[in-house]
Amino acid sequence: MNNGGFHHIGLVSDHAGYELKHKIFELIKSRDSLHDYGVTSDSEPVDYPDQAKKIILGFDRGDIDGAICVCGSGLGMSMVANRSPAIRAAVVWSKESAVLSRQHNDANVLCLGGRLLDHQLALDMVLAWLSTPFLGGRHQRRVGQFNSR
Ligand code: RB5
Repeated sequence: MNNGGFHHIGLVSDHAGYELKHKIFELIKSRDSLHDYGVTSDSEPVDYPDQAKKIILGFDRGDIDGAICVCGSGLGMSMVANRSPAIRAAVVWSKESAVLSRQHNDANVLCLGGRLLDHQLALDMVLAWLSTPFLGGRHQRRVGQFNSR
């Protein structure tokens, strides 16, 4: 299966993203490079910052080089994940925005709103995101400016 340049993918959600996260897990579970950081049910509320920080730790440890985060809106997860300079997290809302986040922004974390998105569309977005490479060139120059002041 095409991994779009990623070697190890992390998958995480809070309670609000669990249902979509489980569908994503079923879709991509055959990838031996998949790391599931929970949650494993939506029965208890779980704070999304704690969940997003697991992805940051996964990057820091070198366990993953890409991740998919699902919360209610995708927004909270992206705000926390983007606190790591190693992460370029993108909240996407369509297949085109998912593809562009890879082609132009080299997004290494995909953030999805489990309560806002049509789930079938979200699954299509995941596959498109995972199989789209970064275009580099002028986009590399711009991405290279992200962490400078
Ligand atoms: C949980 O209610 C919700 O706030 C969370 O999943 C997320 O949408 C935050 O951005």
